[in-house]
Amino acid sequence: MPEATTAPRPNPVRGRLNSAFFALMARYIDRRLAGHKDRIFDRLGGVVAEIGAGNGPNLRYLPPRTTVHAVEPNPYFHRRLERTAEAQGMDLTIHAVPGEAIDLDDASVDAVLCTWVLCTVEDPGQVLREIRRVLRPGGRFAFIEHVAAPAGPVRRVQRLVRRPWRWTFEGCRTDRDTAAAVRAAGFASVELTEFRFRSTFVPVRTQIAGVAVR
Ligand SMILES: C[S@@+](CC[C@H](N)C(=O)[O-])C[C@H]1O[C@@H](n2cnc3c(N)ncnc32)[C@H](O)[C@@H]1O
Repeated sequence: MPEATTAPRPNPVRGRLNSAFFALMARYIDRRLAGHKDRIFDRLGGVVAEIGAGNGPNLRYLPPRTTVHAVEPNPYFHRRLERTAEAQGMDLTIHAVPGEAIDLDDASVDAVLCTWVLCTVEDPGQVLREIRRVLRPGGRFAFIEHVAAPAGPVRRVQRLVRRPWRWTFEGCRTDRDTAAAVRAAGFASVELTEFRFRSTFVPVRTQIAGVAVR
């Protein structure tokens, strides 16, 4: 386990706004991702770690009473996350640490999941190393991420909004090649599909959903 690390405190205004924004948009987002979530979260259970759990929109895809370790460095998400976990009957522990330094033992969880997080973390390679470390052999890492589009109009929009987007969404990059990062992370297998997120939010139109096995 890495030495205890405290996460840098998010901006108090944008930190709160992000939690409120994702609470407001939860249904809209979930309607568009539900099919992918049903598929990749199927059979996850036991002891689960969720990286960047936010307000907890993924908890309802887990069996009741699952033990969930939510790695969520932004304290402004914690209250909503606790409420969601209570409503879903989850056994929740919040870890206010970054995914780059998860305070869980090696091979201590059955599954890890994250949605729209590797776009935002400071060091995706390090977060993926931590995910592999905490997963037991044969454990599954399920993820949905928005990624850089191929050359074309969506890519141009992603480049155009890069800076204000990153500022507003506390570090979120619109131009990451997360598929390559997951494939390079040393998992025994990686299966992922590319899909189009049908919404007016053009910068996050190109997405991937997949499962990697440790
Ligand atoms: C776009 S939100 C997604 C939240 C949630 N997963 C969802 O699908 O609604 C990005 C999340 O990543 C978290 N995050 C940012 N930096 C992180 C880091 N270094 N380690 C772990 N989580 C991080 C944020 O606090 C936030 O909860």
